[in-house]
Amino acid sequence: MADFERKILITGGAGFIGSHVVRIFVDQYPQYQIVNLDKLTYAGNLENLKDVEGKPNYTFVKADITDEEQIEAIFNDYKFDSVVHLAAESHVDRSIHSPKEFIMTNIVGTVNLLNSARASWGDGATEGKNLFYHISTDEVYGSLGAEGLFTETTPYDPHSPYSASKASSDHIVRAYFHTYGLPIIISNCSNNYGPNQFPEKLIPLMVHNLKQRKALPVYGKGENVRDWLYVGDHAAAIDLLFHKGTVGETYNIGGSEERNNLELVKQLCRIYDELQNDDGLKSEELIEFVQDRPGHDFRYAIDSSKIQNELGWKPAHTFEQGMKSTVKWYLENEEWLNNVTSGEYKKYYELQYNTGN
Ligand code: NAD
Ligand code: TYD
Repeated sequence: MADFERKILITGGAGFIGSHVVRIFVDQYPQYQIVNLDKLTYAGNLENLKDVEGKPNYTFVKADITDEEQIEAIFNDYKFDSVVHLAAESHVDRSIHSPKEFIMTNIVGTVNLLNSARASWGDGATEGKNLFYHISTDEVYGSLGAEGLFTETTPYDPHSPYSASKASSDHIVRAYFHTYGLPIIISNCSNNYGPNQFPEKLIPLMVHNLKQRKALPVYGKGENVRDWLYVGDHAAAIDLLFHKGTVGETYNIGGSEERNNLELVKQLCRIYDELQNDDGLKSEELIEFVQDRPGHDFRYAIDSSKIQNELGWKPAHTFEQGMKSTVKWYLENEEWLNNVTSGEYKKYYELQYNTGN
């Protein structure tokens, strides 16, 4: 086997953001060995990574981060020097229906990874050589009113089981830095959109329903505000922070593209009508106001001046550009969307890895 400069574990690489991060690391750093560890839950799809399968610096390992022994054994086998941790249960609505899975994966799973990293690297691990980079969300900060932005010093105030589980994991990751000297970085990012996102989240769900000419369910009055970032810009920020971020620090990442949900869905309808609509029905007429999400956070908005000023990151896509290319991607990748909605995508793993699991 080739000698690699670094051995990096990326967790959750078969998911939405993880697949973009894996592709950047595999393609841009042939000198690194990249191991993508993923349980392949409903949200994990190896079709997202068809183009990197077979590359000499890429390996996929199917494993569950809640399984302590399995994770320890994988660390012993590969001797990773760094971890980029994205694996998580990620959908707020699911967390409202079944919080326990969120506690298990997002908290216990993170602790298992931290323990294996600590056992493998030792206390006071070497900065520069070792890094545990934890990917988190702006939802840990709670909900804003009409004014203001989340900064890295905004007190944590999570409201949903999802955001509470991510907040817990952030605190635990920081505790391992302060207590054991484990080299860590945390980034908290705003809502992502782009190719490969599971169609339970707002944007791919709406595109899917637009294609089917089905109702577009807007929660409450559609007044809740999110700050949107193109997934490729988030992946670029992760690459930058992995290489240039300061150990022990937290960085906020956001698109500074605030939209309320109704505005956003109307924009999607307009883009869809320009690109595809051929049944004569104006897509906006499909909008349906439905029961609000319990405890629905009103507004998220990120101040990302720290990563911008210290490291020169800024989003490369405007919202209009990013949304257009995203809608086009879902329209051109009809098979991906159909496979995901039918559950067919699970067969890809069986075929690729020749297993009946
Ligand atoms: P996703 O749901 O698309 O993907 C999650 C991946 O983790 C899947 O491939 C899944 O199979 C895997 N996974 C889940 N449980 C696992 C387990 N027990 N063991 C191993 N693998 C497991 O999520 P995403 O939207 O790509 O989010 C990735 C990370 O980024 C998460 O940590 C999330 O909290 C964070 N984040 C997401 C957003 C967003 O807008 N999507 C914004 C900020 C931060
Ligand atoms: P979502 O994509 O689930 O992300 P998050 O809740 O993590 O921000 O939802 C984005 C916004 O869209 C949120 O305010 C809830 C709203 N929403 C709808 O109005 N209808 C839907 O069908 C979904 C899935 C979300």
